[in-house]
Amino acid sequence: MASERNPRSFPYELRTFPSRLAEGKVPDEVVKWQHAVSLGFHGNAPLERDMEKYVVSEEVDGRMMTGAYVKDVTTPAGAWGPEYPVATYAYHRKSLNVGGGTLLPVHQITAVTVRSSHRRRGLLRAMMSSDLAQAKAAGLPMAALTASEATIYGRFGFGVATHACRIEVAVRGGLEFIVPTAAGHGVVEIADPLVVKGLHHQVFERVHAARYGSIDRQDMYRFLASGQGGYAEPEPVLNIRAALHYDESGTVDGYVSYKPVRDDSRSTVEIVDLLAVTDAAYLALWNFLGQLDLIDEVSWSMAPVDDPLEWAIAAKRHYKRTDTEDHLWLRILDVPAALAARSYAVDGSLTIHVGDPLGHGSGLFRITVVHGLATVARCVEDGSVAAQLSLGVSELSSLYLGAVSARTMHAAGRIREEQPGALALFDAMFAAAVTPHSMTNF
Ligand SMILES: CC(C)(COP(=O)(O)OP(=O)(O)OC[C@H]1O[C@@H](n2cnc3c(N)ncnc32)[C@H](O)[C@@H]1OP(=O)(O)O)[C@@H](O)C(=O)NCCC(=O)NCCS
Repeated sequence: MASERNPRSFPYELRTFPSRLAEGKVPDEVVKWQHAVSLGFHGNAPLERDMEKYVVSEEVDGRMMTGAYVKDVTTPAGAWGPEYPVATYAYHRKSLNVGGGTLLPVHQITAVTVRSSHRRRGLLRAMMSSDLAQAKAAGLPMAALTASEATIYGRFGFGVATHACRIEVAVRGGLEFIVPTAAGHGVVEIADPLVVKGLHHQVFERVHAARYGSIDRQDMYRFLASGQGGYAEPEPVLNIRAALHYDESGTVDGYVSYKPVRDDSRSTVEIVDLLAVTDAAYLALWNFLGQLDLIDEVSWSMAPVDDPLEWAIAAKRHYKRTDTEDHLWLRILDVPAALAARSYAVDGSLTIHVGDPLGHGSGLFRITVVHGLATVARCVEDGSVAAQLSLGVSELSSLYLGAVSARTMHAAGRIREEQPGALALFDAMFAAAVTPHSMTNF
């Protein structure tokens, strides 16, 4: 990234480099960048040996880091010098399951921090603007992130595309299922969490391919899922336990890792990670969790909005959804490519006008769906073609996977119906059979 801004109003240089070892060591600029990230998120300062583990893992993901460095300054003795970035930003590129067996390439943004002493001077805007422009130029149709606060990213064209629910399931005395055989397929056995570390990628790959809205996971997830240490907790967590689900042929098609959480009022088990390739494996793993002795409640913060568990158990009120939060944020960079990648519920033709504050997705587009597949043509904006719907790229990004309907977005005052019937047509075409769900934080 090169910055060509006024040096008086923007006295920073943006430098981008890969996260990787050089001659077996973590390069100094990567060390300092990692320190800046942990400062920004109020985390523990990383030790050198842990940093090596992070960097080896990030290299697998092809992670690129950007730092903003103050130009032409000297800092007082003892203070962090100008070689420590005052802002950080990183990306890796993986895929998003957009249905119909399609994995769309996606530009995943992470590790966004600005040092408090440099906040609200346009650093985030500068890093985001030049990074999205480069991602678009590189041919990426979509960008994605998960947000620390829900008020930051809409202005850059991101929209909420999936939600994650926190659930608390009362299990004291055992979890009873309405159709016990539905929760009794295959076998669940305890395993060493290290086995989960080894199996994570192959199980996740199958889940990712099957799960609408899933975004691919970074390599570090095998450590996080198995309690072998992550950015927040570099040491192995010794009270994490794991159970594997084996299908009828003896193949592992799911697992759960979990840990007890101390609380004076009740005994809780918190799910660390739960992956299930099939509905049968999902219910069987919950059946296992529901039989844990001495436990009052099992909690999970990554449950889907439409959770079959809620409808599988005998006492629906023992399933409490205590929080529903925005999770995956998407940002369409290339409207024709993104819209042509997903499949559609009904055939039809619709013209939409998209506004984009950064310009990448702006324009008038005609979406023509035949046999569930779309061709998307850009129309000249000379008044000869009228838009049926007008909306911003943030709204279109939220509608993309069907996390919300156009009707609801219209009721929220966020999109305009230019021709009667356009909202209903949009919703019929974009309707998704299942609610999108991603289980990846990044
Ligand atoms: C969030 C953060 C990255 C913003 O950086 P920044 O350099 O101060 O942001 P900018 O000055 O470029 O602001 C860009 C725009 O975003 C807005 N904005 C920035 N932070 C915001 C916040 N937390 N909530 C709402 N709006 C915010 C600004 O008002 C500005 O709006 P405008 O351009 O439309 O007028 C920074 O405050 C930070 O590091 N926070 C702690 C770590 C964190 O939460 N990171 C995000 C991880 S997902």
